[in-house]
Amino acid sequence: MLHDNRVGGRDKGRYWNEFYAGRPGGKIDPPSQFAAFVLQEAPDLSLMIEVGSGGGRDSFFFARHGVTVAAIDGSISAVQACERSRADSGLANVTFHCASVGTSQFHEVISALRSATDGPVMVYARFFLHALTDDEEDDFFSGLAEALEIGDLVAFEYRTVRDASGAKVTPDHYRRFVDPAQVFVKAGSHGFVVDYAVEGYGLAKFKQDDAYVARCILRKI
Ligand SMILES: C[S@@+](CC[C@H](N)C(=O)[O-])C[C@H]1O[C@@H](n2cnc3c(N)ncnc32)[C@H](O)[C@@H]1O
Repeated sequence: MLHDNRVGGRDKGRYWNEFYAGRPGGKIDPPSQFAAFVLQEAPDLSLMIEVGSGGGRDSFFFARHGVTVAAIDGSISAVQACERSRADSGLANVTFHCASVGTSQFHEVISALRSATDGPVMVYARFFLHALTDDEEDDFFSGLAEALEIGDLVAFEYRTVRDASGAKVTPDHYRRFVDPAQVFVKAGSHGFVVDYAVEGYGLAKFKQDDAYVARCILRKI
């Protein structure tokens, strides 16, 4: 059975708001495997910008390890849950911002965050590219190209076209399985080179969902 569910694109905002409503946020969750990998690959960052931060588990993980983090998500309930956890945690080096890729607000937020920061910045987006529509993905790359500076890094992990038939744990919702070759082409056309790329099983296993994912680290040139 294929799980590519692009018809749900118009309802995905409501899906994610209901998904995160009432959740305590990510303070106590373990991080993703990808977050642990990225942390050791990008020391000495001035700012980590997580886009599509969801329940915030990776943002809190980076912040607990001393990284200054600005997290952006389009779901207000996700952002509110993370704010509650941030207040409980007392962490002062992580902020949460509600803005949707595909709107001018996203461009304003990411540009303001970048221009207020001296030194190296990384944009981190896990399980986010496949949550975007095609148009949103184009807008995301445009926003990154506009806001980021030479030498800045971008880290992605996403479900690929080879994951379409695998078992899924979360309820049926909008997903768009992504071709890594197209990501590389789009990255190149927006002024990024690929510093590192890998794909396979075993990188993002969650219960019976062992997604076939791709990871990459891009650098703005
Ligand atoms: C699959 S979740 C990933 C959450 C987290 N990164 C993780 O790995 O657990 C996708 C997230 O993207 C957010 N999202 C989807 N479309 C978005 C958009 N156009 N702009 C901003 N956030 C969006 C959803 O609200 C949700 O939190």
